[in-house]
Amino acid sequence: MNIFKKFIGSNSIEDLKNKIDYKRLPVHIAIILDGNGRWAKKRRIPRNLGHREGAKTLEKVVLFCNEIGIKYLTVYAFSTENWKRPKEEVDALMKLLKEFLDGFQEHLGKKNIKINILGDIRALPHDIQNEIIMVEKFSSKNSGLNLNIALNYGSRIEMLNAVKDIAVDIRNGRINEDEITEEIFSDYLYTKGIPDPDLLIRTSGEYRLSNFLLWQLAYTELLFDKVLWPDFSEEHLLSAIIDYQKRNRRFGGI
Ligand code: IPE
Ligand code: IPE
Ligand code: MG
Repeated sequence: MNIFKKFIGSNSIEDLKNKIDYKRLPVHIAIILDGNGRWAKKRRIPRNLGHREGAKTLEKVVLFCNEIGIKYLTVYAFSTENWKRPKEEVDALMKLLKEFLDGFQEHLGKKNIKINILGDIRALPHDIQNEIIMVEKFSSKNSGLNLNIALNYGSRIEMLNAVKDIAVDIRNGRINEDEITEEIFSDYLYTKGIPDPDLLIRTSGEYRLSNFLLWQLAYTELLFDKVLWPDFSEEHLLSAIIDYQKRNRRFGGI
């Protein structure tokens, strides 16, 4: 069933806002923003224009999450597998990323949003690495939305690196193997200190996780929808939250 169609129907954005229980907002929303290429294909325009539109959507959704009081938003912007794409597309994505970061101080930083990158940034172009360091520092004292951008992120490599770091710490006597709990393991991931997502949204009609937050999503509510990322709107986000609030999270209990 198409959840978004069901809720949006004839409801205005204000109607949807009124249907939300603001005391029970998901603390952490994760989004696999997918479908930029197909959005462009439908319009017979280059894929890069789909990514450009997708970047605009991202900024809009980030601002909206901040406005309604979401504490954490994690978006999957570039996976460790996305390097397989043609060089022109990777270059175009890097260029867009640079523009997004350049515009951050102007548009998002002033709104009290704090930015944090998840992933191995050492493989990214140097100008982008510098930009990331600057933007993270610039926004580090902000207390509004925590925006985590997964860049050159892969969940398996994240866990593998955690295992290697733990092995080193055991060898150096910094930690004892009996002490390794789920909490300790989590501290070795990029997401250290960030609560697990309450809600995961994937756009574009694909029913898979594509190597995103495999550990962290253990008990997350999942929502898949056909909408292509550039078409995602505030109404879609509100509908997702309404749907989330109707669910009964049991965490293995009754
Ligand atoms: C998502 O859109 C953006 C990134 C992966 C960077 P896609 O580029 O995957 O769009 P589709 O899946 O080809 O439509
Ligand atoms: C997942 O989308 C990665 C990002 C959204 C950055 P993909 O489009 O790369 O995933 P697959 O290839 O369809 O699994
Ligand atoms: Mg895709």
